[in-house]
Amino acid sequence: MENKRTSFTSSLGFVLAAAGSAVGLGNIWRFPYLAAKDGGGLFLVVYLILVLTFGFTLLTTEVAIGRKTKQSPLTAYKLIHPKFGWIGALACMVPMIIIPYYCVIGGWVLKYFVAFLTGAGEAAAADGYFTSFITSDHEPIIYMAIFLLATAFIIYLGVDKGIEMVSKILMPVLIIFVVGIAIFSLTIKHPDEAGNIRTGFEGLKIYIIPSLEGKSFKDVIVVIMDAMGQLFYSLSIAMGIMVAYGSYVRDEDNLMKSINQIEIFDTLVAFFAGVMIIPAVYVFMGREGMSASGPGLMFISMPKIFMEMGRVGTAVGLIFFLMVIFAALTSCISILEAIVSSFMDRFGMSRDKATVTETLIALAMGVLVCLGYNKLYFEAPLPNGATAQILDIMDYLSNNIMMPVVAIGTCILIGWAVKPDYVIDEVVKTGTKFGRKNLYKVMIRFIAPVLLMVLLLQAFGII
Ligand code: ALA
Repeated sequence: MENKRTSFTSSLGFVLAAAGSAVGLGNIWRFPYLAAKDGGGLFLVVYLILVLTFGFTLLTTEVAIGRKTKQSPLTAYKLIHPKFGWIGALACMVPMIIIPYYCVIGGWVLKYFVAFLTGAGEAAAADGYFTSFITSDHEPIIYMAIFLLATAFIIYLGVDKGIEMVSKILMPVLIIFVVGIAIFSLTIKHPDEAGNIRTGFEGLKIYIIPSLEGKSFKDVIVVIMDAMGQLFYSLSIAMGIMVAYGSYVRDEDNLMKSINQIEIFDTLVAFFAGVMIIPAVYVFMGREGMSASGPGLMFISMPKIFMEMGRVGTAVGLIFFLMVIFAALTSCISILEAIVSSFMDRFGMSRDKATVTETLIALAMGVLVCLGYNKLYFEAPLPNGATAQILDIMDYLSNNIMMPVVAIGTCILIGWAVKPDYVIDEVVKTGTKFGRKNLYKVMIRFIAPVLLMVLLLQAFGII
């Protein structure tokens, strides 16, 4: 297998690319909703503890596996232990399932951006706009294809000239937008139905002050499991991505420092996304409005809120959707790279050929996802009680089932089969200290696999 691969040109390049992967739709539409649902500050505290323990363990493991093997997910695991090649196959299938629906949602964001850009924000905020768009014949397919092709073009340009370059430009801009809108969100005021003024700061309090009011022990477990599920998605763990990106990290780079920076970056953006969204939703829609999540939050509640803001709302909406495009694009390129690098390493394909192959597969699957709201519409029950279309099924399968399996397999491989020193040695080889080393060992061998097992059983509706 070829060992001379391109690499990120600097630590900063890797950190921004990995943070670009981490910061995505998950931060913007899932994190604020879960935080609001799970008692605001309580969720934040649990999330933070899990980032520093569980997230840190899995992120370090995957990046170290990538750098040590210099292989993409499909081939890396087998190289570590011949009996664990199946993890690589699964870790490559996960992004293959995610990318079509991620591009469909990316296409929806693009459509809303265009609507705000062309002065059609009012129409986009009207009841029924979202449903009529996603159920229409061609438009969602066209927007999905544009988003996918933009992603594919960046991947075709390569690791340093494509992924790293784009991340270095988009991530700083994204931070400015998120913080800017968050500050603006805190300044807004609006009267409720009774004429009492609701303020952004009141919304902020709901978001950050931990509340255990009316919460049973079982509810707290739900908060922990929600936070853990979110963490996976948000840090791009168990999707093959961090193994692929790790394989492009230079041997002389300080892995620990980069991992800490990625954790901080992703968590801060998720936190600020909450500051950006929760106070605004609270001011214009009250506490009830906060129960909207996913598509409902981003494509129905937010456009209405922007229109309620008056003239400034169109500009804020435009910046908001542009920021979401940046977040989704830098994540989407990492999802595609995990697959393309796997095809290159496993089948000896050139980057061009691997990119075209996977783009065509994703395009075909993306069309099916779009048709899931049109000609192929059905309603299927999920183990968690939700009603699902094709998109939700793919999301549930990858996120709730396959990703925990990949992570459990990784814990068994590193914790028990080859032992944690496999990862620790890789991290310290540059002479850097492995902070939280004992914690790492306990997490990878005992705590993480048990928590993951609970998450998996929950996904199957067993507990
Ligand atoms: N980590 C990416 C996200 O949050 C996949 O959307």
